[in-house]
Amino acid sequence: MSGKKKVAVIFGGQSSEHEVSRLSAESILKNIDRTKYDVVMIGITKDGRWLHYDGPVEKIGSGEWQAMAEARIPSGKRLSLEEGCLSKKGNEKETAAAGLSAEDFLNAAGSCTESKKIDVVFPVLHGCNGEDGTIQGLFELAGVPYVGSGVLGSALGMDKAYAKILFEKAGIPQGKYLVFNRKRIERDIDSIIDEVEAALEYPCFVKPSNAGSSVGVSKAYNREKLIEALELAAKYDRRVLVEEFIDGREIECSVLGNDEPIASTVGEIIPGNEFYDYNAKYLDNNSLIKIPADLPEGTVETIRDYAVKAFKCLDCAGLSRVDFFVHKKTGKVYINEINTMPGFTNISMYPKLWEESGIPYGELISRLIELAIERFEDNKRCSNFDVSGRL
Ligand SMILES: Nc1ncnc2c1ncn2[C@@H]1O[C@H](COP(=O)(O)OP(=O)(O)O)[C@@H](O)[C@H]1O
Ligand SMILES: [Mg+2]
Repeated sequence: MSGKKKVAVIFGGQSSEHEVSRLSAESILKNIDRTKYDVVMIGITKDGRWLHYDGPVEKIGSGEWQAMAEARIPSGKRLSLEEGCLSKKGNEKETAAAGLSAEDFLNAAGSCTESKKIDVVFPVLHGCNGEDGTIQGLFELAGVPYVGSGVLGSALGMDKAYAKILFEKAGIPQGKYLVFNRKRIERDIDSIIDEVEAALEYPCFVKPSNAGSSVGVSKAYNREKLIEALELAAKYDRRVLVEEFIDGREIECSVLGNDEPIASTVGEIIPGNEFYDYNAKYLDNNSLIKIPADLPEGTVETIRDYAVKAFKCLDCAGLSRVDFFVHKKTGKVYINEINTMPGFTNISMYPKLWEESGIPYGELISRLIELAIERFEDNKRCSNFDVSGRL
């Protein structure tokens, strides 16, 4: 046996951030320390099939990996449970890529023999179905350590309305906001508008509680636009937030650790569009990143302190990027949101901030894998309570 840990890097997924995930994964796979880790690559297609991929890493970002993985599926063949372990010891030709479902993966992980087990999963998945606690629940049931936050932290980090309740409890300043459910938007939009107009001024921000990549986010300048914005956001989630507009600079901070997390230096996003919308993030290529952000030292320390508090109050683990606004006129710091699996290409803000703070990209990956194992071992300490004698 090599003594190396077997790490399953999972990428793609059923989310609006599928493409970003592939780019993040390609970077991670190019930089993971192969002297320490044996790597298994698993791509999740947009229609939810799990494919074992063992081709060139360079084909992941472009999406070419999928056809290559599918071409290796023997016709009509499903993976057996043992093959589902995706073992290097198995017959590679046979086991290559047979389109596992999440359920198969779970079964497979449970039936693996010790020598074949995946030691750690690195779910490089952003957004719904990857960053929201759903897949984390699967890993819990399968009994495999995984990088990042657990079920609770992931779900809370994804759900902006719930995260805000906890940020408030932790004493982290944030803008005023209101939450509405979709049924009410559909049935009684006039009363919602009245409530918003009584509490906030135009412009205001409207967004789905659970989403990402600025999908469904609008800046509403008047009543008419507010109606459109509410209807748009309600397409993406059952709950919709309306927020006070903060005229702020966008500042981000990386957090790393489990129970004793640390914060990086901070960076600034200078959006190329009116706000940091989907186009500014991924298409227009007109936004800038500035590391470190040019801010007074006191403001930087406040942000780092709030970032750690945010991470702790949502029970996050491993990593998170916490996003803030610094008001352009008052200099006051407001939290915007937390991302429990932030973009992870080698030019993404999360790893870049750590690089600036003294942790190079490759080392960061190793630390995250170690943190996953540490958290798993810690959790194991409380799972041995045997109730059988009481039944
Ligand atoms: N209350 C707000 N005030 C000012 N700008 C906002 C506000 N909320 C969101 N934005 C702008 O919209 C972008 C996306 O919103 P965000 O809440 O971060 O959603 P996502 O999870 O999709 O990134 C932010 O980066 C920022 O540019
Ligand atoms: Mg954001």
